Amino acid sequence: MIKKIVLGLVVLLIVFQFFRIDKTNPVTNPANDMFVVEKVPQEVQQIIRTSCYDCHSNQTNYPWYSNVAPVSWWVKHHINEGREELNFNEWGTYSRKRKLHKLEEIEEAASEGWMPLSSYLIMHGDARLNQQQRKKLSVWAHNLRTPSQIEEP
Ligand code: HEC
Repeated sequence: MIKKIVLGLVVLLIVFQFFRIDKTNPVTNPANDMFVVEKVPQEVQQIIRTSCYDCHSNQTNYPWYSNVAPVSWWVKHHINEGREELNFNEWGTYSRKRKLHKLEEIEEAASEGWMPLSSYLIMHGDARLNQQQRKKLSVWAHNLRTPSQIEEP
């Protein structure tokens, strides 16, 4: 009985591998890139590239385990959802209202520390934001949505 169940699971896992995720990165119009549109400072660009780009841009680096179903489906789901919520490469297409809302969310995500997703950090330790990076990102987002309201610390 146990033997049959194990065999069934193995067969299922093998069948899963035929359902591969689409890893082609969408084409980006460079004119809509937030880094260009908002003249984002280098240090902030660096933080966003390292910690956010895999899910919030069209320039995803797919890790090796994205080749293994069913983990790959879960990874792809995060990327789709992340891009839908906030795509730094599509920034120029957002309305002013949406931009301001997203900046508020970025500020919160950085200061409260709920991004990057904790599941992502297990395999991407270098993406974890330290205190200084969190502060830098949140102050930058804050300043951008409320110009000249607050001074850089
Ligand atoms: C592993 C993928 C992943 C990474 C890396 C990641 N995010 Fe996210 N992010 C998501 C997903 C999925 C959502 C949507 C679901 C949710 O809110 O949990 C999201 C939602 C958000 C939202 C909410 C948008 C809204 O309007 O509600 C913000 C803001 C955000 N992320 C900012 C960031 C920032 C800033 C970073 C880098 C410091 C980052 N994320 C890194 C996957 C990711």
